[in-house]
Formats: sequence, structure tokens, C-alpha cells
Amino acid sequence: MLAFPSQMSDDERRFELLADLGAMIAREVELDELLASFAERVARAVGADRASLWLIDGASGELRARVADQVDPDDLRLPVGRGIAGHVARTGEAVALADVTADPRWSRDFDERTGYRTRSMLCAPVEGGGGRRGVIQVLNKPGGFSARDQVFVAALAEQIGRALEYTSLRGDRERPGVAVRGRFNHVVGRSPAMQAVYDVIVSAAQTDATVLLHGETGTGKGLFARAIHVNSERRDAPFVHVDCTTLPANLVESELFGHERGAFTGADARVIGKVEAAAGGTLFLDELGEIPLELQGKLLRWVQERRFERVGGRETIDSDVRLVAATNRDLAAMVKAGGFRSDLYFRVRVVEIELPPLRARGDGDILGLAEHFVGVYCRRHRKAASTFSDAARAALCAHPWPGNVRELEHAIERAIVLGRGLVIDDRALGLDRDLVPAADGATAEGVVLPHDLSLDDIERRYATAAVERAGGNQSAAARTLGISRNKLARLLRG
Ligand SMILES: Nc1ncnc2c1ncn2[C@@H]1O[C@H](COP(=O)(O)OP(=O)(O)OP(=O)(O)O)[C@@H](O)[C@H]1O
Ligand SMILES: [Mg+2]
Repeated sequence: MLAFPSQMSDDERRFELLADLGAMIAREVELDELLASFAERVARAVGADRASLWLIDGASGELRARVADQVDPDDLRLPVGRGIAGHVARTGEAVALADVTADPRWSRDFDERTGYRTRSMLCAPVEGGGGRRGVIQVLNKPGGFSARDQVFVAALAEQIGRALEYTSLRGDRERPGVAVRGRFNHVVGRSPAMQAVYDVIVSAAQTDATVLLHGETGTGKGLFARAIHVNSERRDAPFVHVDCTTLPANLVESELFGHERGAFTGADARVIGKVEAAAGGTLFLDELGEIPLELQGKLLRWVQERRFERVGGRETIDSDVRLVAATNRDLAAMVKAGGFRSDLYFRVRVVEIELPPLRARGDGDILGLAEHFVGVYCRRHRKAASTFSDAARAALCAHPWPGNVRELEHAIERAIVLGRGLVIDDRALGLDRDLVPAADGATAEGVVLPHDLSLDDIERRYATAAVERAGGNQSAAARTLGISRNKLARLLRG
């Protein structure tokens, strides 16, 4: 959260907020976090007690909001037309009231549900791209709202309406509302390293260029592949995920390109492949570095020409599909070593995005993500909201996070599930323990390995030690290491 020096004047605060807002929304940071910090800043800038941004859900037509300091931050919903915010959403007229209880449009419903007492209210419609998108609502200003406050909130609303146009929330041209999707912009992190990534993601998304996402395990490659899709013109077409580690070697061609009836034994009907399933949308080839050399040639033709034939078919099919690929391998080194075709490599790395490891993102991102996951898992496991002890914060910042965001996510989920109190302490995070698999070469300080091992050998030994520590349970070991079961199986094979 940004700090506000108390000597900052009202006008400076308002100006700064207006200037920041567009950039904040366009960055696609996690929506809840954005709305919470936005609401807090608006309330502060206006000198009011509370503010919220209601968005019209284009699909259901309801207004949806999150209130910053609500204990149970479940979605708050309101039908358009209901209450004063609902009235503003319907009519597009701003409303300022010194005493809401005197207004017949006011519905006390909401106060009853939240336990909040509304007295004065300022509401302005948010419009952009030819439609009404939502309402800004500011509550309870001592002494009431001035004409100046109304002008400022209207300017904010205009700015938000414009900024929404650049996000995956952008609604239809003709219809009111925004596109509230599933896990669309659940991206947390404001470090300079991540800001640079967001900039490239946003500009790459607006083109059809092939993107290669590279980063250690758990850095968010899957998440950003989807972010590219939902930020592109193709967002209403399918996003098809293909994990190259699970492609059966003998069926890879038919998995990708489909097959005709009778193409091989057992092919008793025509089956559409992943490429055809992604028509008009995005094909995400995950773990591209794992695709066996002999299959790379089959992929290359499609990557080059976007044309293919179904297995056993004669017709050449043109496909309009955008390709996003991801890997944690060093493909350039694999090309040198002869494990990856150079022509395929050059075709997929048109735009290459390096996702920084968590330890390079700084304490702010680590703690921001940790708090984000506390919110997610407290809600999911129906636990009261928890906070971290100082020792836990220090432990989070000191940990090297070899499994990156996924490892952090699992550590927090475990602490929430097993935790009893409202404070998560450093022991509950179990971070040191994860570094010390007790097996060959392991000591209380860590794992001791001979110097002359290759990285592959080290990975295999470390993975073996982790499985032994987990009592032979591979799923548990994969969780501890912050990697997928597939990946663990690969490491064990060496
Ligand atoms: N910046 C972020 N904000 C919020 N959640 C994140 C962020 N980055 C990653 N995550 C979460 O961390 C987990 C791991 O991310 P993801 O699966 O995308 O990693 P990956 O790089 O594909 O890993 P792997 O190489 O092991 O497949 C997911 O649950 C994802 O939602
Ligand atoms: Mg992944």
C-alpha cells in the first residue's frame, strides 16, 4: 500500500490519485486488491469515511462491489435500479445527498447487511467506450459533500471509465456493463521487475505475435499466458492449454491436429485436435522444452504456416490461432546441445518474456502475495481473516523461494489450514523444514552435495531426498518442492 505523507495537501492528493488511477487499472493488477486500495485512496482524497467502485456485471446486469474494510469480503451485489447506486447506474445522473434517510430511493438493506450506518452520499456514473460501466460511491463526509467534491468525483469516474477500456474488464460497445471473468486478472505484485513484465504483456497481447514465456517453476507462466489471451482481441474465443509433458508420444500428432475416422486402429470417428479447438483463440503450449525432438518437426510446420492436416486426412486446414508457449528450460542451451530444433526455437521466441524469480521481486511483492493468498485461503477454508507475526514476515522475506509463487501459495495455504489462531507465526509457515530433506547428504543445516555433480544430478538427488522425507508420498513431496507431480516424476527419472 502506498504511504501518504500527512503534509500532502488535499489538492495534491486528488491530483495524484487522478494521475495514478488510469495506470493502476490498465496494469491488470488483482481486481480485489485494486478496488480495495482505490476505495481507500478515494475516501481519503475526498475526506470521506468510505468509498467504493461498483461495476455493472455485463452478464448478470447486477452491480458488484467490494468494500475495503469489510470483514467478510464476499461479493456485494445490487440489482441495477435498486438503492441510490442502482439508480445512478440506471439513469447515469450523479447524486449528492446530505442525508440519505430523507431520500425515498435509498434502501436501508445494505446498511442492515453490513452493519454500516450511511448518512451522506455522493454517487457518480462511470462511463466509457459507449456504455455505462459502473458507479463510484463515496459515503459519510463530515459536513457533507461540496460542489468541488462533486466535480472531482465526476473527473475520477471519467478517468476510470476510460481506463477500463484498456483492461480485460472492457465491456461490449453497445451494452452496459463490464466483463467480469473468472480468474482474469489475479496478478499481484508491484515491484519494478514485475512492472516491466506487465508492460510487455500488455503490448504483446494487443498483437498476434507468438510469445515465449520463460521462468523458473512457479513464477506464473500459466497465469500470464492466460493474461495475454484475456487482454487480446481473441479473449472471447477459446484458450486451449496443452501440457507437452503429458502428450503421449505416439499420439501427439493426433492430439494436436486431430484425426480422421479410420486413421489408425481405434480411430472410429473423426476427432478434432487442440489446434482446431483453439480456432480464433489462443493455443498455449506449456512446458515446450519437454517436447521430444522427433515431434518438434511436426509442430514446426504448423508454427511456420499455421496449416496442418488431420492424421489420416488429405485436406490442408488453415488455422487462425495465436501461439503462446512456456518453458522453464534454457532453450538456447538445448539448441546448442542438440536437444531442441533451432528453427522451432526462432519461430516461438518472437516475443520472449522472462518472468523473474520471486526472490528477485523484493520484500514488497513477497508480502503482497502472501497477504493476497491469506485472503484467498481464509475465504476458501472458511477461516477468520489472519495476519502475520513480525517473525513470520521476516521469515517470508528471508526465504529463497526455490518454488517461487507456487511454493509461497502452498506455504500460506498450509498455514491457514493448520492454523488455530488469528496470527500466523513463523513456525506455522514451516519454511526452514522444507530446506532440510533428511536423506543422503542432508544435515540439519541443509543438503550437502559433492561439487562435481551436474545440475541434473543435483536435482535428482534433491528430489529423491524430498520423496524420502515425505515418507515416499510423491504428491506431498511435489507440494513441498512447489512443483507439479509431472515435473517431480521427470526429476526422479533424471
Ligand atoms: N503474480 C502473481 N499473482 C498472483 N498469483 C500468482 C502470481 N504468479 C503466480 N501466481 C500463482 O502461483 C501459482 C503458480 O503459477 P503458475 O502455475 O502460473 O506457474 P508456472 O510458472 O506455470 O509454474 P510451472 O513451471 O511449475 O508450471 C498459481 O496458482 C498462480 O495463480
Ligand atoms: Mg505452468
